[in-house]
Amino acid sequence: MDFRRINGLPPYVFTIIDSLKVESRRAGHDVIDLGFGNPDLPSPDIAVSKLCEAAGNPRNHRYSSSRGIPKLRQAVADLYQRRFGVDLDPETEVINTIGAKEGFSHLMWVLLEAGDAVLVPSPSYPIHLFAPLFAGANVREMPLTSNQDDFFDTLTERFEFSWPRPRVIVLSFPHNPTTTCVDLDFMQRVVDFARERDVVLVHDFAYAELGFDGVKPPSILEAEGAKDVAVEFYSMTKSFSMAGWRMAFMVGNPEVVAALAKLKSYLDYGTFQPIQIAATVTLNEAVDYPVEVGEVYQRRRDALCDGLQRIGWEIEPPRGTMFAWAPIPEQYSHMGSVEFASMLVKDADVAVSPGVGFGPGGEGFVRFALIENEQRINQAVRNLRGSLDKLR
Ligand SMILES: Cc1ncc(COP(=O)(O)O)c(C=O)c1O
Repeated sequence: MDFRRINGLPPYVFTIIDSLKVESRRAGHDVIDLGFGNPDLPSPDIAVSKLCEAAGNPRNHRYSSSRGIPKLRQAVADLYQRRFGVDLDPETEVINTIGAKEGFSHLMWVLLEAGDAVLVPSPSYPIHLFAPLFAGANVREMPLTSNQDDFFDTLTERFEFSWPRPRVIVLSFPHNPTTTCVDLDFMQRVVDFARERDVVLVHDFAYAELGFDGVKPPSILEAEGAKDVAVEFYSMTKSFSMAGWRMAFMVGNPEVVAALAKLKSYLDYGTFQPIQIAATVTLNEAVDYPVEVGEVYQRRRDALCDGLQRIGWEIEPPRGTMFAWAPIPEQYSHMGSVEFASMLVKDADVAVSPGVGFGPGGEGFVRFALIENEQRINQAVRNLRGSLDKLR
């Protein structure tokens, strides 16, 4: 059989490390898993109790609304007003998606056709590269540097030199995997640029609430004129630790919102209504939960980065996300990220993600996800010290 749409996909490199981890655990090793970005913190109690309550009502067992129930969209508009000072019309500027990943993937289908060009940062969260490819588009990568001015120059240059002219620019800050953060001035410059060129901006704001040391990541919609050209994904996965619930939103430009709503009205009936009800109450009432979640990740970041520095592994502490992006120490850099990450599972019982899994621009790095507690992270550092003998 021939599966033309997926035949060209490269093997998912993360599965290599995952299989090694499973093998090691089967052999009795206590592997500390800092690989996959799957949050370990519980969802807010109120989410769970409201879900149970709403699930008991048969009226909530029917098909729900694909765009999201009105109270949920209103809760998102309230959150944007409270957190970012952004006004959103819940009727026309907010849509519920089944996680940011689903929303982003279908949005690419809406915005792009075969042969269209799209600009995507490199390295990238894999779906940012693959969803445009599934839509048949040509991805033009923008190498991401930690300096936002340099990155802005790269973006404008790549845009001007691309043919056909890109129809979409994908952004995502704080950024997975590199942890790069930008400020509102950067967002404003990109919005001004996009308005002049008439190009759609798609900002994946999955780490909206996860800034450290007082960093408050800006929403792209805080930039003046943003709604003319931009949409943004806000997800409850990381900030509210609700990964399995599949609850996210796309907000911003009403034409793009309507276009995604149209496609989704053909494809799905939305998330199970009790989940929508529980999410509504959580957004309205658990407003401080993301702050608590952020504090936990910040303490884990400190444990990891202080520890790595102590054992001679130079790393710049991230200012946001729930990851640390670590250059492979020079003594091991010849190995490449897959071989190095494989060695860490086998010799140190520590699983990390090889940078190349985020595209060729990620080679030379590994990503630590801060999804184990501080004690386990300290243990991971001790394991690394024991096995990375060239650092000594
Ligand atoms: C940049 C980015 N976007 C989206 C997601 C997934 O979000 P969701 O669970 O809402 O699909 C992740 C998860 O790792 C991510 O890093």
